[in-house]
Amino acid sequence: MGKTILITGAAGYIGSHTCVCLLQAGWHIVAIDNLCNSSARAIERITELAGRDLRFYTLDVRDYAALSKLLQQESVSAVIHFAGLKSVADSVTRPLDYFDNNVCGSVSLLRALHQQGVRKLVFSSSATVYGHPQQVPIPESAALSVTNPYGRSKLMVEQILEDLAQSDHEWRIATLRYFNPAGAHESGRLGEDPRGEPGNLMPYLAQVAVGRREYLSVFGDDYPTPDGTGVRDYIHVMDLARGHLAALERLFSHSGNFTVNLGTGQGVSVLQAVAAFERASGKAIPKRIAPRRSGDVASCYALATAAQELLGWRAEKKLAQMCSDQWRWQHQNPEGY
Ligand code: NAD
Ligand code: UFG
Repeated sequence: MGKTILITGAAGYIGSHTCVCLLQAGWHIVAIDNLCNSSARAIERITELAGRDLRFYTLDVRDYAALSKLLQQESVSAVIHFAGLKSVADSVTRPLDYFDNNVCGSVSLLRALHQQGVRKLVFSSSATVYGHPQQVPIPESAALSVTNPYGRSKLMVEQILEDLAQSDHEWRIATLRYFNPAGAHESGRLGEDPRGEPGNLMPYLAQVAVGRREYLSVFGDDYPTPDGTGVRDYIHVMDLARGHLAALERLFSHSGNFTVNLGTGQGVSVLQAVAAFERASGKAIPKRIAPRRSGDVASCYALATAAQELLGWRAEKKLAQMCSDQWRWQHQNPEGY
């Protein structure tokens, strides 16, 4: 408590919600973002909601010199590293951008932290590292594999972190594998503001409901799932934010490294998500069945017990609340920030 945390990618979807959570819990924040996929308005809204200030710098994590200078000025005790590119589809067409940003950016950050003697890190990984899962629910011990360059970039950073921790036992590293973040801050002031056409289901649903898009394409209805559509583990972004708080607290109280899933453990199909969003918004959501999306898996949901045992954390908010919060955000901010 009272310590200063560096948050990279702080203006982004998960970073901004986590900043509110940390500020409200009494931590101090130095926030950086290059704003390649976000708006500085998110930073204003964070301070508005938390009722406290943070120090924000427009900075690219690949800029080692600027990062080092910042770390010399600010007395940082730990880092939460959200900064990165996250579109699976873009990663297939622009793999070098993904490796440069996600892998080289992480190495640049780690070198700067190493130089300044900062040895506590929370890393944003993803359920994408499970590739095509061989079993659901997926435990952390499941085999890892990749299906696209984005996933490879996340797995590469996980492996780099393992090697780093081996090389220097002072490191305390929390690797958090998120399932499918959804929803928004309950105030409707903070939420996901994707640039261009959303690649993910929840923001797409919200944009159809608000009238920005005509209909939802349901990517495949012939999967081996109860209703034939893809099953995922949607987790409320504020639950996810609390998960970061719990991970950070653990790093300050225990040595060693850990990797945990952050999910609810509940599988939800595309059609169930559409129905829940219709109930939350009171809007009919036109939909059309479309071919399967390349690289999609039938079913992906977490075994969520490890985070509970290790961190005393579990997801609390249900799908209905994710949809109503996502809708409030979209309705109040139809064009985003
Ligand atoms: P986001 O795009 O909203 O946030 C990422 C932020 O990082 C953006 O504000 C962007 O401008 C910034 N950024 C990107 N490259 C940067 C760089 N080189 N230097 C400084 N800032 C940079 O994405 P998000 O949904 O908040 O995701 C946060 C992290 O969680 C990412 O690492 C992502 O891969 C991971 N993740 C996201 C999901 C998801 O579905 N949203 C799932 C699993 C993991
Ligand atoms: N879907 C549709 N129509 C759409 C968008 C999605 O039917 O317009 C379906 C997908 O086929 C899938 C489900 O909705 O069955 C969820 O799709 P998302 O794109 O929202 O999420 P994914 O599970 O495919 O991918 C997300 C993140 C990835 C991350 C992965 C695992 O986008 O970055 O979760 O954590 F790697």
